Amino acid sequence: MNTSDYLVLGSGIAGLIFALEVAEHGRVSVLCKNAPDEGSTRYAQGGIASVTSPLDTFQAHIADTLDAGDGLCNEEIVRMVVEDGPERIEQLISLGTQFDRKDESDDYELGREGGHSARRILHARDATGAEIHRAIFARASAHPNIDILPYHIAIDFITCDNPDARGGKEVLGVYALDIQSNEIKTFAAKLTMLATGGAGKAYLYTSNPDVATGDGIAMSFRAGARVANMEFFQFHPTCLYHPEAKSFLITEAMRGEGAKLINLSGQRFMPEYDKRAELAPRDIVARAIDREMKKTGDDYVLLDISHRDEKFILDRFPTIAERTRELGFDLCKEPLPVVPAAHYCCGGVVSDSWGRSDLARLYVAGETAQTGLHGANRLASNSLLEALVFAHRAARHALAHGEYSEIPRVVPEWDSLDTVKSSEEVLVSHSWDEVRRTMWNLVGISRRDKRLELARRRIEQIAAEVKDYYWSYQVTSDLVELRNIITVALITIHCAARRRESRGLHFNSDVPNHDDENWLIDSVVHASDISLV
Ligand code: FAD
Ligand code: SIN
Repeated sequence: MNTSDYLVLGSGIAGLIFALEVAEHGRVSVLCKNAPDEGSTRYAQGGIASVTSPLDTFQAHIADTLDAGDGLCNEEIVRMVVEDGPERIEQLISLGTQFDRKDESDDYELGREGGHSARRILHARDATGAEIHRAIFARASAHPNIDILPYHIAIDFITCDNPDARGGKEVLGVYALDIQSNEIKTFAAKLTMLATGGAGKAYLYTSNPDVATGDGIAMSFRAGARVANMEFFQFHPTCLYHPEAKSFLITEAMRGEGAKLINLSGQRFMPEYDKRAELAPRDIVARAIDREMKKTGDDYVLLDISHRDEKFILDRFPTIAERTRELGFDLCKEPLPVVPAAHYCCGGVVSDSWGRSDLARLYVAGETAQTGLHGANRLASNSLLEALVFAHRAARHALAHGEYSEIPRVVPEWDSLDTVKSSEEVLVSHSWDEVRRTMWNLVGISRRDKRLELARRRIEQIAAEVKDYYWSYQVTSDLVELRNIITVALITIHCAARRRESRGLHFNSDVPNHDDENWLIDSVVHASDISLV
């Protein structure tokens, strides 16, 4: 058994910030299921929202966040996150992150994105996440108290009963598959931080990297924690449409710098949908593109920034310019074909204001968590900020509360039963594809009751097939992830079907309006609500 004081699942911004803070007081093991930089953090483009300019105010950032969240944000949490922002930005800078500054001045060059009433996005060109990850990973990997274990995929929590915990259990550690040696290992710790990121891979088209399979959400749900608001899956309006451009995002910051959306007849369409046009919040822009594509029958729309000065474009968006050039486009001279794709999971494991989940000894932060910040729709560039704030608060809480001062010494061993090696991997890949396709076609940007019901039936059927398979064959990472995207899909469908209104990111054309009287509430789901794999 591997033991440490703190066990961290995930090496993105949330996991590494927590690890760095608690490492001053104990030994930390960080598990990540791929290379340490393979997660959404590294791919973040636009930047991180925080009030750092005298022309901006906390009040304005709070108002924009609440407006995007469409009535479901927790206002206290919004205030806390926004007001803690500048200190967290200073923390990132002290760890070595370099944000762009204006020429010959100490002022940050601030970007603008949809739904923001001011320029407030700190960024490093169009590769902000890569710069943040570079800096914090360098610190974490050099820290004598931190062990980073790549290619270890957590399978399930190890728990025992705890009647005082809301979820009735406490977390002693995890079973994890060492993907390189194919061995199941046991990890135990005083406290565990869950920072496993998002779940975009539940959909066929996504901006997310392959690791985003909602593992943390599914594991917590199985262990008895509440999960909430999974119907609010954010679709980013502009991912590159190209057969070779898997998951390549075109940052919203480009629209912030004046890029226009046009259809294939050359007409600009966003002003017809919202007075903020291209800078309306994401739910509005993604739905408008979806409608435009359905209206015209075209497979994509166009995003055009070619009216801006070439030097400006190349300085501000070098990563996008390079990648699109490789694919045969000249961003400075022609528009790019774009489509919406699944981007951000606003729902997740319910957390309190200190990052505590319903399971004792388990904290949660980053995209896996549902903190109340985003409500029914996340404001652009608020997620890196949320991850920072909650990882920091969870670390403070963990250090201040010593009740779990013992590392569990005896935990149940992993039971591999009578499983054998599978010779039918094709069943796993086929089910993967079917889940993702079903979610894309039936639980996408625009929903209907009938389609949700069809999706539920189909995914339940796949769940039953995979359940048999799961308990008969040796565990592989593909199988672990398949089981998790099925769980995420079932929870998402359950939340979407139950909400009898449209709000924020959840649009159901059978109930197209808000119902504030009945539905100004989170969609909270518990394992007893759904039959699982
Ligand atoms: P991640 O950075 O996704 O890290 C997840 C970690 O968990 C990885 O290390 C992974 O290996 C590990 N993991 C997952 N499952 C397991 C398991 N079972 N066992 C062990 N390890 C596991 N937000 C913004 O605020 N601004 C932006 O500009 C922005 N741009 C974005 C651009 C793109 C293309 C994408 C995809 C997202 C963007 N976002 C942006 C969202 C933001 O990047 C993410 O919400 C945030 O980085 C999530 O951080 P995290 O630490 O929660 O998870
Ligand atoms: C982007 O750069 O458009 C992504 C920003 C975000 O997801 O917050």
